[in-house]
Amino acid sequence: MMQKNIVWHPSTVSKAERQQLNNHKSCALWFTGYSGSGKSTLANELDCQLYSLGVRSFVLDGDNVRHGLNKELGFSPKDRVENIRRVGEVAKLFVESGQIVMTAFISPYRADRSQVRKIFDRGEFIEVFIDCPFEVCEQRDPKGLYQKARKGEIHDFTGIDSPYEPPVSPELTINTEDYSIQEAAEVIIRYLERQGII
Ligand code: PPS
Repeated sequence: MMQKNIVWHPSTVSKAERQQLNNHKSCALWFTGYSGSGKSTLANELDCQLYSLGVRSFVLDGDNVRHGLNKELGFSPKDRVENIRRVGEVAKLFVESGQIVMTAFISPYRADRSQVRKIFDRGEFIEVFIDCPFEVCEQRDPKGLYQKARKGEIHDFTGIDSPYEPPVSPELTINTEDYSIQEAAEVIIRYLERQGII
């Protein structure tokens, strides 16, 4: 829905000028995968590696964003759609500010991820599929949530009674069983270098 009586106010400093100041381009690295697949761990390791390279980056994490900005949202399909829409908009602001933003959300629906992709300029949205088999994520169960979901104490749990739609053609697929977290972050750094982003 287009908002009435609201006019876009352009920024005087352009995105290109902000990127020039930072000495690197900006983009959104959109991690997607099951709970417990390693999205947050990898996003944080990458954040540390980028920091030590002098790159301005930031992680938006599902658990954290749901404590504040999205605290009223649950896990129904409707709420997940709204969660991802808002995070997409926030990620876009980070990219406009000249930074590299990593988002660590299950983001289970293909349609939502492609909707988010559309709000970015070409090459600025990089979908990173954290390809960890469901059985492994359930086995890890770092927060004990899979066990609760199996007992019926949590409903709408991704992979149990709520779907996960893997990406069809993500820019990057990281199999967390093949790489250590540090190596996986290095794979992404090399991708960013090849793309001329950093
Ligand atoms: S989504 O689907 O993108 O809107 O989810 P997200 O915002 O990434 O939140 C996922 C984290 O919330 C915890 N949690 C659940 N996950 C899935 N399904 C249900 N029902 C659920 N309830 C709570 C869980 O810890 C997820 O954390 P991660 O970091 O993915 O392991």
